[in-house]
Amino acid sequence: MTSPTTPRPVAVLTGASSGIGEAAARELSRRGYALVLAARRLDKLEALARQLDPGGQRVVAVQADVADPADRAHLIAEAQRRFGHIDALINNAGISIASGMWWDAPDPLRVLHVNLDAPIELTRLVLPAMRARRHGHIVNVGSVAGSVAFQGIYSASKFGLRGFSLSLRRELLGSGVNVSLVSPGFIRTELTQNAKLPMPGPEIVARAIADVLERPRREVVVPGGYRLATLLDQLAPGLVDRAVALIRRGRYRA
Ligand SMILES: NC(=O)c1ccc[n+]([C@@H]2O[C@H](COP(=O)([O-])OP(=O)(O)OC[C@H]3O[C@@H](n4cnc5c(N)ncnc54)[C@H](OP(=O)(O)O)[C@@H]3O)[C@@H](O)[C@H]2O)c1
Repeated sequence: MTSPTTPRPVAVLTGASSGIGEAAARELSRRGYALVLAARRLDKLEALARQLDPGGQRVVAVQADVADPADRAHLIAEAQRRFGHIDALINNAGISIASGMWWDAPDPLRVLHVNLDAPIELTRLVLPAMRARRHGHIVNVGSVAGSVAFQGIYSASKFGLRGFSLSLRRELLGSGVNVSLVSPGFIRTELTQNAKLPMPGPEIVARAIADVLERPRREVVVPGGYRLATLLDQLAPGLVDRAVALIRRGRYRA
């Protein structure tokens, strides 16, 4: 939250053109952030930016494929140029295998490039200035699939992101730079459009992202009930094997 006398915090948000990222942009705008919105679909980003900030001073759209090193560098440089500094980097952009099994997909490793390499590389780009200012926050959007093995390559990316996030947080303790991980369960977005499960909308994750920015957390699982799945997977993995097989055979089609 900002008052007229405090400068607005500046957040770079990837994957802002739909789903959780779009909802997070709305929530953070409502809470007074200046935003740099990134994704590949520029038309969607620009429409959202216009809606949130008709004056065009506070919300900026930048087209970026986060898997592309030049686009990543341009995104961070553009945020610096527009606002002079970055208070928060929110690594939300993510993909999964569109349909079928990962080993049949034409380029399964792209999931790792978008979901894991990109957050690491973007973090590397913003860290020097954050560490110099002794101020900043990296928020990574993981997944329950980063604790409960569910989908080969997608889980590999989210287990990796979870490990990165939790250890980076420890590496930066005392530096003034916070690291938080937000791990959603199934949420109704374009990513889960083929899933036949009851799911909450993305606003619940958007609020969690905005909340951790105000009060940093090691990891937040949303909805909270999914913490039980993680616990169950540790205590009785055989039971979870059966549940996942049921979901795969019947109601969930990724
Ligand atoms: N929905 C769920 O059930 C669920 C559960 C757990 C975790 N998550 C995580 O939540 C995050 C957001 O997903 P979502 O559910 O909101 O899905 P979504 O609606 O499909 O949104 C994904 C976003 O990522 C962007 N994106 C994809 N590839 C990109 C790339 N190469 N470069 C830049 N942007 C890219 C997309 O924009 P463009 O296509 O315009 O580039 C879009 O804005 C992901 O990290 C996902 O893994 C989702």
